[in-house]
Amino acid sequence: MCLPQLGVLWLFVAVRLTTAEQVTVHTSDSVRVSCLQSVTLHCNITSQEELQIKHLSWFNADIPDSTLCEVNPQTGEIEPPNPQNPQNPQNLHRRVQCTYTPSSQLTLTLFPVRPHDQGTYTCKLRSTKGIKVSTTRVELQECYREAFASFNDLGPTCVFTGVYPDGDVHWFQGTNNLTGDAQNNTKQEEVGGARTVTSSLKIGNEGGAYNCSLWIPSTGVYLTSRDIGCVEESSFRSKSIAGCGVAAFGPVWTLYFFFLFLHSIVSSV
Ligand SMILES: *[C@@H]1O[C@H](CO)[C@@H](O)[C@H](O)[C@H]1NC(C)=O
Ligand SMILES: *[C@@H]1O[C@H](CO)[C@@H](O)[C@H](O)[C@H]1NC(C)=O
Ligand SMILES: *[C@@H]1O[C@H](CO)[C@@H](O)[C@H](O)[C@H]1NC(C)=O
Ligand SMILES: *[C@@H]1O[C@H](CO)[C@@H](O)[C@H](O)[C@H]1NC(C)=O
Repeated sequence: MCLPQLGVLWLFVAVRLTTAEQVTVHTSDSVRVSCLQSVTLHCNITSQEELQIKHLSWFNADIPDSTLCEVNPQTGEIEPPNPQNPQNPQNLHRRVQCTYTPSSQLTLTLFPVRPHDQGTYTCKLRSTKGIKVSTTRVELQECYREAFASFNDLGPTCVFTGVYPDGDVHWFQGTNNLTGDAQNNTKQEEVGGARTVTSSLKIGNEGGAYNCSLWIPSTGVYLTSRDIGCVEESSFRSKSIAGCGVAAFGPVWTLYFFFLFLHSIVSSV
């Protein structure tokens, strides 16, 4: 008596489960990306039967009304984003590209990624089978955009742009850590959430070759390093010679005087 009833109940549960799974949207849980790279978020749709889509979009879950791409349910084309949207941050619409494969996939590509783009992105599907959402978390890896090393009035100077997250400049001469002699350290916030980090090294007349390294405290790594040789930048040549002096030019002068000496011997013969 009891067993057939249980069987009917199981059948009921199984039917419920398959109807619930008839339509799914699937996204990656999270992606890690370096600043300035591109990131592509897939929203994969599966459906057991032909789907009538009423709404399909990607938006930034952290920002109200921030639709990044939306499919027009009539034409199946991507609607252009509204650049007038005051919630549309960081000119996001200019850095977003979407593609739609009817009834199967909406992809959002963000390029270049900026620190402020970090956050949760949601794909939302509304169809005759109800509403489905799925989210992807976009996380940024430590990064920088450019590194410049030069010799200027303040001494050896390094500038790192597009630094994320916070960074410090450490100075070395050979294996000596000269960070204690750094001066005029500055950090400037850029549009998009990264920073420009600058540092100079106070030096005496001892000269030599230096390197500056970008230290990221939160991850505990040196991200990059630049060497400042004595004569590598022609525009700073006179300054560099003053700074590095005899160490670099000693051999050249010795050679020059040697040839003068040779010449005088040859002419006197
Ligand atoms: C979505 O589909 C693409 C193939 O078109 C695949 O490369 C990707 O891994 C899928 N992503 C998810 C989250 O299912
Ligand atoms: C700086 O240069 C020195 C000598 O070339 C080297 O030993 C050291 O590893 C460099 N430091 C960094 C952090 O790259
Ligand atoms: C160099 O000196 C700085 C500041 O004193 C310190 O934070 C850093 O760990 C040192 N780096 C190395 C490689 O010794
Ligand atoms: C560099 O820092 C010193 C003091 O540490 C200051 O007197 C000088 O004006 C600064 N120079 C520049 C160009 O910022």
